Formats: sequence, structure tokens, C-alpha cells
Amino acid sequence: MNKHKGIIRGINGNLLTVEFDGNVRQNEVGYALRDGERLKSEIIRIQGNRAFLQVFENTKGLMVGDAVEFTGEMLSVQLGPGLLGQIYDGLQNPLTELAKQFGFFLPKGVLFEALDSQKKWQFTPLVKKGDVVRSGFWLGEVSEAYFKHKIMLPFHLQGEYTVESINNAGDYTIHDSIALLRDEKGETREITMNFNWPVKIPITAYRDKLLPKEPLITKVRIIDTFFPVARGGTYCIPGPFGAGKTVLQQITSRYAEVDIVIIAACGERAGEIVETMREFPKLTDPKTKKSLMERTIIIANTSSMPVAAREASVYTATTLGEYYRQMGLDVLLLADSTSRWAQAMREVSGRLEEIPGDEAFPAYLESRIAEFYERAGLVELYSGDQASLTIGGTVSPAGGNFEEPVTQATLKVVGAFHGLSRDRANARRFPSIDPLDSWSKYESCVPGELIEYAREFLFKGHEVHQMMMVIGEEGTSLEDFIVYLKAEFLDSVYLQQNAFDKVDAATSPERQRYVLQHIYHILQKEFQFDNKDLAREFFYELRQKFIDWNYLPMESEDFKKQEKLINKLIKGMGEDEPGV
Ligand SMILES: Nc1ncnc2c1ncn2[C@@H]1O[C@H](COP(=O)(O)OP(=O)(O)OP(=O)(O)O)[C@@H](O)[C@H]1O
Ligand SMILES: [Mg+2]
Repeated sequence: MNKHKGIIRGINGNLLTVEFDGNVRQNEVGYALRDGERLKSEIIRIQGNRAFLQVFENTKGLMVGDAVEFTGEMLSVQLGPGLLGQIYDGLQNPLTELAKQFGFFLPKGVLFEALDSQKKWQFTPLVKKGDVVRSGFWLGEVSEAYFKHKIMLPFHLQGEYTVESINNAGDYTIHDSIALLRDEKGETREITMNFNWPVKIPITAYRDKLLPKEPLITKVRIIDTFFPVARGGTYCIPGPFGAGKTVLQQITSRYAEVDIVIIAACGERAGEIVETMREFPKLTDPKTKKSLMERTIIIANTSSMPVAAREASVYTATTLGEYYRQMGLDVLLLADSTSRWAQAMREVSGRLEEIPGDEAFPAYLESRIAEFYERAGLVELYSGDQASLTIGGTVSPAGGNFEEPVTQATLKVVGAFHGLSRDRANARRFPSIDPLDSWSKYESCVPGELIEYAREFLFKGHEVHQMMMVIGEEGTSLEDFIVYLKAEFLDSVYLQQNAFDKVDAATSPERQRYVLQHIYHILQKEFQFDNKDLAREFFYELRQKFIDWNYLPMESEDFKKQEKLINKLIKGMGEDEPGV
């Protein structure tokens, strides 16, 4: 493709108006040139012979009349082995590499190759001469961390290709040719272990998209039992400032049963990002005992970076997620926070002087949010394997008001809603997911009757509590008071979970079923108490015993002992409901 040039005619913050000759495309990358610096930008709108470019860096120093060089390529990421364990910014600059060379403050116009071009990877071929392949087919594999990273036929290559030759097993860099393919017209093409893909275009080199059904186990009880996430599904975590969105995502990134986790930290406070960069590599994967970072990619943009870079980070993260899904893996993408991304959209839209919609967000806010979550999914690959990309996004609505446009647009498209509550966070009832307002369309790992019964108790308990606040405890009947105590018991021993306790932090689905069955039994039981004080004392003791139980590993002797203690305490406190 021809490369075109342009001249800057206007500068408004990060938005350039550029007059160009020839042809340019929407989302094409251009570089604004000044004093030997090349500032990366993207075309976000074309009008006649003028293109509007958002610059991914500070535009200070740039002047009207400066030249712009277009690349003919859309904003892309480099795909290949070596992505895992990296911390990138939204444009896939490797931050750890940059920090090593420049410290934490990056100079302008510095661009790095995203992948190590020197490193040799041990390649094993998976096809042979004469095989017919198409985009997304696995040509070979290399070991990356503890995964088999598939070397695939680049996704942009259309039609069928015949393998002319494929390299023997051996060590190669990502730029070495590993295969020679012949297309339908007879032309040959060399394949290396890396290629680029435009971030705003979903990767669809698979046979079929399937309905997400199977639960994705997060080991957070309130999620897995009451508001489950599906493998390949979508969910959102709206929550007011400081309600625990980031901590909840960190817990999930640690314990969720997936192969790969991609964290898009877009627009959070810089300090938080630095903390993540420091802390995360120290954590170990509870399953493999290896560094968690080995199966993680972090895309970090802080609110101090230009808005355009923030916007790109969501797309970059999604593309990396889709890429690993193509290898047959289960990937979880956590975006924190999508509100910052939406704010970036609003800023850009404002500069383009577009007609604003609700709360000055652009009219296309809803469709952008929908398009983002639609990139999640359970797919059947050409190999017949199933693989998934699950997307969970936090939303930080101003003032915790869920009626605002970003939360509302998100709720329309996601499969589960984990609404965080200010009251629960203040009362330190963590994770602060509201058990009354939240919902999920996915199937739980716990039998439906248990869940319905337990939820009904939460609603009833809430009602009694509301009533008690008006008429006081004295005015409440003993019967109602016991309902309240039971609901509080369920809340404290099951909905709340201690993220800092080794055992309690992650509850397996087996354990969830087992424990909830016990709780069900207690909720059903008709206790007989002479007065409210005795009832309160009893539930207080039961709660303490249960919380101690939560801290004991399920396979331990102590677990069984504690269970016996609990059973003994309950027994003789009244009649079981018939049939229990
Ligand atoms: N599961 C938890 N267990 C214990 N403490 C928690 C938990 N979740 C959150 N907290 C407490 O709440 C604080 C705020 O949590 P967090 O940073 O996750 O909130 P946030 O919703 O991401 O806030 P922001 O809107 O500022 O991004 C934490 O520093 C921690 O003290
Ligand atoms: Mg946060």
C-alpha cells in the first residue's frame, strides 16, 4: 500500500486536523513528525481531504504546518510467543523494558518492539508437507510458560494454503521463517512466528461461536453460588468509589479457574498501577505454585496518560485475549475500569464536536460497549477444541449512581451483574456484592433449590431488618427476629469471605455445595428459643464456629471435627422441618 503524507492544519489538545493527499483509511496509524520525534496517532474520522487524528502522546511542541506520515496500517498489536508475563501500555510498549532504560517517566515518541526479537523458542511442527491449512490453523507450537503456544496461520490470510515446507523441530526467533505455504493462485509465502492484527477488529478464525453454559469458577462464594459467571460469558462490577472493585478483580485474577488472565488497568490512578506492577509478580498461582505473572498479561494505562492511549488499551487487551483463545485456552479479561474508557470516548467526541448524548457521552457509547463485550465468547476452533474468552469489567459511576449511561449500557449486554454496595463496603462486608440487587443469567455450580431458598431468606431478613429499624427490636416478634438472625448468619458465614485467609479466600465448588447444604438445613430448622437474647447468643456462637470452619482445609481432620461440633450445637435446639 502507498504511504501518504499530510500537513497539520489544526491542533486541539490531542486531536489533530490533518490535510492529506491520496487515500487514507479510518483507524489508520499516522506519525506526526517534529524534531526527529515520531508521535503515534490514529485516524478517528475523515471528512473530505481532512483527517482527524488522535495522538497517543502529549502534543506539546507540535505545530500547525508540521508533517504527518501515514502508514497504511491500522492500529495493531504484535502477536507471537513472549506476550505472557509482560506489562504493556495501551500501545503495547513493554513497560518493564522501558522502565529499565528510561525510569518510570517515559520520553515522548519512544516506541519499542512488543516482543523480544532475539529470544529463541523451541519449535515443534504440527503440520507436514502437503497439508491444507487456513487462517487460525495450528502450524506448530513452542513452550511459553507452562502452555503450548500455538504458531498459527495469520488471521488475515484468506482462503486455503498448502504446506510446501515446514521447519523441523528446533530453536527459532519470532522473525525466522518456519514454514513456506502456497496459496490457491500458486503464490508462495513465508510464515514466521509473529504477525500483526488490528486491535479494533475481532479475531474470528474459528468454526463456531457457542452459547456459554458451563460455570467459570471464581472461588468467590457469592459469585459462584448466587451470581455465577459462565466460561465465555460476560459480567460487570459497578461500584462506587472505594467499594472494592479492584480488590475483587485481583482476587478473581488469582483464583479463577482459567488458563490466562489479561488485566486491562485503564485509567486508574498511577499509584495503583505501580502497586500492581510491584505486587503482582510476587504472587504465586495457588494451583501451579508458579509466579502468577507467568500466565498474566497486564495492560496498564493511568489517568495521567493521554486519553487516546487509554481508549486503545481496552482494545489491545481484548485482542490479546482473543489470540490466546485461538490456541484452545480459557482466557479471562478483566477491565478496570470501563468508565475511564468511556470518559476517554467522551473527551474525544467532545473535541470532534459531535452531537452529545446522555451526560455528554457520544451517541455511539452503547454500541461501543456492546461491541466490546461481544468479543467474549465460547468458541469451537477448527481443531474441534473449545476455548473461551470471558470478559469482566468494572464500572465506576459517579456518586455510585447505577442509573448513569455507562452502567446502563453495560447492563443491557452482560450476562451477570455484580453490583457493589456502599453500605456493605462501609460495614466491611466483603466482597461487597449486593445480594439483593445483583443478578446472573448463567447457571450456578450449586443446585437451584438451595439458591432460591437461601435468597428468599435474604429478602425476608432484609424486610425484618427494615421493619426493626422503625419499630425497634422490642416490637419485633420472636419468629421474625429468628428470620433476621438466620439471614444475618447466612450473610456472615457464606456471602462474606476473607480475602486475606489462605483457605477462606478460595472456596471450591464442592465445598460450596457442601457448606450451603448445611446452611440450608439451618435455615429450614424450626428453632425454639425462650427469648431473643437466647436466640442471639445461639446464632452468635454458631456463626463463630462456622467462620472457624471456613478457615479449615476441607480435606483436614480438623474440618471434620469442626463439622461435628457444629452439628452438636444445632442438634437439640428444636425440631427439623419434616423431610430434612
Ligand atoms: N475483599 C476485601 N476484603 C477486605 N478488604 C477489602 C476487600 N475489598 C476491598 N477492601 C478494602 O476496600 C479498599 C478499597 O478497595 P478497592 O481499591 O478495590 O476499591 P475500588 O472500588 O476499586 O475503588 P476505586 O473506585 O477508587 O477504584 C481496599 O483498599 C481494602 O481496604
Ligand atoms: Mg479500583
